[in-house]
Amino acid sequence: MRVTVTGAGHVGLVHAAAMAVIGHQVTVIDCDVSRIKGLQEGVVPFHEPLLREEVVRQVNGKRLRFTLGARDAYGDAEVVFLCVGTPPRDDGSANLMAVENAARDIRKHAPRHCVVVEKSTVPTGTAERLLSALNYGRNDLHVASNPEFLREGTALRDTLNPDRIVVGTSTKLAADVLRDVYRPLIDSGSRYIETSVATAELSKHASNSMLAMRISYMNALAEVCDRTGADVERVAEIMGADPRIGPSFLKAGLGFGGFCFPKDVAALAHTFTQNGVSSALLDEVLDINERAVRSVFRKIESALWHVEGKNVVVFGVAFKPDTDDVRFSPALKLVEVLTESRAHVSVWDPAVDSVRVGDRDVFPHTDLYEAARNADVAVIATDWEQLHKLDFFSLSVEMSGREIIDARNFLSESEILAAEAAGFTVTGVGR
Ligand code: UGA
Repeated sequence: MRVTVTGAGHVGLVHAAAMAVIGHQVTVIDCDVSRIKGLQEGVVPFHEPLLREEVVRQVNGKRLRFTLGARDAYGDAEVVFLCVGTPPRDDGSANLMAVENAARDIRKHAPRHCVVVEKSTVPTGTAERLLSALNYGRNDLHVASNPEFLREGTALRDTLNPDRIVVGTSTKLAADVLRDVYRPLIDSGSRYIETSVATAELSKHASNSMLAMRISYMNALAEVCDRTGADVERVAEIMGADPRIGPSFLKAGLGFGGFCFPKDVAALAHTFTQNGVSSALLDEVLDINERAVRSVFRKIESALWHVEGKNVVVFGVAFKPDTDDVRFSPALKLVEVLTESRAHVSVWDPAVDSVRVGDRDVFPHTDLYEAARNADVAVIATDWEQLHKLDFFSLSVEMSGREIIDARNFLSESEILAAEAAGFTVTGVGR
């Protein structure tokens, strides 16, 4: 089928590559000229395992191409997936300007009965507005909602082996077209859930907020553990053993970040309020998340007495491992708070080349021990696998202090023993 993807960001590029892998003829359009030019030369503008190789393979196989022209992108599209950004406004609501701009081009160029699919996360009710924006002066375009559930770092794998494909439609034609689009994945056993457009839209915010809520719940419990001597890691293990709860997303630490959870919880809170439902539950999820960074800062402070003038090495600045994404990263927030408190902060991260802290660019070290030179305290802020290879004796030679704050409860018991044998004191979160 002829598929167009609007937006060459994380969601769009991964989705486009996956659509090509399952046999469709895919065109990607983006208004960012340098991004499209780069992609035409095989340059993927962010770090995502396996994506570059797949993009190059699909381009060479002539199933994937990139364009800047709206007529070229939409002129013969059977389906258009909208994967444009929907960033948060100050009040938590989503800014849908990019969706509206894309709708204008699609309305002008798309062939009759093209199905336009919301793939970007949008508030419930967006489809109605989109439908009227698309059909201004015509009345044949269809709108569907097909939220994506991929995780950065495992995005391509998640998209090609989804635990569910959710499709919300209001016309038979749109339902048939989307079933055809996903036929290869349905035939290989993926769960395909068909529903109304509003239900599909809401299910995305509801899922992300539920996961964020679990994390904040664990972080609130961690605060209690810190005061009572209970161990939040064991509490999580015991809770997770109940099949009704399950073990995932129960990791306490520095809190959640990235471009999805913080914005989606805020957007759902906004939807609650707009519909006369109290958003207190969701507001508290965000509050606890902010407290998590402050609580780690206080642990650093208590290890150092005064932070000002001290050398702190922060291991990891990405919002989670296997990505170079620092948007809403709690690790970055911690670096900012430390810097504002006049600590000398050195950063290590294996994927992030540079990051803006206040008014200056910071270039993370790629060598752990170099980053740690003369540090009074080391903080594990992102749970990068590489940190499991830490040699604590080499670290102790480089550092001047003997404190490790494990803000992700990342170190295993044997690693903590190894650190202690090298003279370190390890402080975790709620353990
Ligand atoms: C999240 C969802 O997991 C995806 O299903 C969804 O499709 C995506 O948002 C999206 O809306 O696009 P992602 O933002 O890539 O995916 O990251 P996650 O792996 O979910 O992690 C989010 C944050 O929570 C990270 O900062 C991570 O460190 C933190 N986290 C995760 C915890 O603090 N504790 C946990 O137990 C799990």
